[in-house]
Amino acid sequence: MHHFAYKAGVLHAEDVDLSNVAKSVGTPLYCYSTATLQRHYRLLAEAFEGQNALICFAVKANSNQGVLATLAQLGAGMDVVSEGELRRAMAARVAPEKIIFAGVGKTRSEMAYALKQGILGFNVESEPELRALNEVAGELGRKAPIAIRVNPDVDAKTHAKISTGKSENKFGVPFAEARALYDLAAELPALDIVGIHMHIGSQITDLAPMRAAFTLMRQLAKELLAAGYQLRHLDLGGGLGIPYDAKDPLPPHPRDYAAIIVECLGDLGLELVLEPGRIIAANSGVLLTRVIHVKEGADRTFLIVDAAMNDLLRPTLYEAHHDIWPVREDLKSMPPVVQDIVGPVCETGDYIALERSLPPFSEGDLVAVMAAGAYGAVMSSTYNSRPLVPEVLVKGEDFAVVRPRQSYDELIGLDRLPNWPA
Ligand code: LLP
Repeated sequence: MHHFAYKAGVLHAEDVDLSNVAKSVGTPLYCYSTATLQRHYRLLAEAFEGQNALICFAVKANSNQGVLATLAQLGAGMDVVSEGELRRAMAARVAPEKIIFAGVGKTRSEMAYALKQGILGFNVESEPELRALNEVAGELGRKAPIAIRVNPDVDAKTHAKISTGKSENKFGVPFAEARALYDLAAELPALDIVGIHMHIGSQITDLAPMRAAFTLMRQLAKELLAAGYQLRHLDLGGGLGIPYDAKDPLPPHPRDYAAIIVECLGDLGLELVLEPGRIIAANSGVLLTRVIHVKEGADRTFLIVDAAMNDLLRPTLYEAHHDIWPVREDLKSMPPVVQDIVGPVCETGDYIALERSLPPFSEGDLVAVMAAGAYGAVMSSTYNSRPLVPEVLVKGEDFAVVRPRQSYDELIGLDRLPNWPA
């Protein structure tokens, strides 16, 4: 469910006409709906009603401060994976006590920065990281609150590039070694053991692997509690999938996901920490792009638009599907044409959709790439020296530019000509 719909023949985000946004901001642009962000956050929060649960939005999915602040106002914490994300979350006024620092390669200076802020916890992914964090915390005269990320070796049955819970993946410590690492952590003086962490992958549409992982987590939690560890929370990661293709069956509802978590872990008296990204942000955003040319190739029709793989990498990187909607509703009733939507970047892999049956677009038409609110703008780059595109947040009848388009001066201004001796 989202808040992009046709009104008076034009695609709107809530009550805002997207053709007006395009006119005033220029294309391409990302546009997010506050109501959709709020709805998805609340849906998840309601699914855990009655539980002691903290929803930490995965900032990697969408790090715009306007989005983070919207979620923080509803009570969300944040899951960050770098000092940059931590700084963004705090700039959006998220309390450090609600921030989890995850990631397989935190540097010592990132650890020190996060320790000084007083964050909720570090998810530690290896013995070397455990030892480094202990040293950094010791030097600062602090105790680092930690959970160990356990790799349960379950197949999340998702795209290989976003599957994280198999033993061959770089993430976490093997389940069989977790207990020994907790025992080591207990001996390191500057660490405070507070939880267990797992995250098996992203865009998961089958709850069975989740259940398998949570069952293992239960086993470990009971073992640690019995051994006297004073755990405070269980961090269950994120990963719930969304319906990218309207033709696909619906992925599991947050209610069913929550039911499994409560069934596996709800009776342990521990706080449940969740790290959802996609399920909250994906449907809340579209990438709006304009047709530059319609090019009739020898074999097919190419719709050349002003957005490219540098603006939305998901189709190129994961063969990801995004539904395509015309901004003008009347185009939907015209006989469709099979076409490729491609960008101006000089790579064959630069596409947004391939061999899609879509309305007969013409030059100047606006095209909405749906479900681009998660892992869209955050994964963009300036490849081909294309400026980063603006982000717009809609609320009711209003819209705000929450990130302006990068100017050409900003784009090229950081380069320096070397001043070599002659
Ligand atoms: N927690 C951890 C430790 C993670 O690694 C991730 C995502 C999340 C939470 C949030 O997962 P979500 O609820 O969004 O599935 N760029 C890819 C997705 C990469 C996901 C990385 N980790 C894509 O565009 O599909």
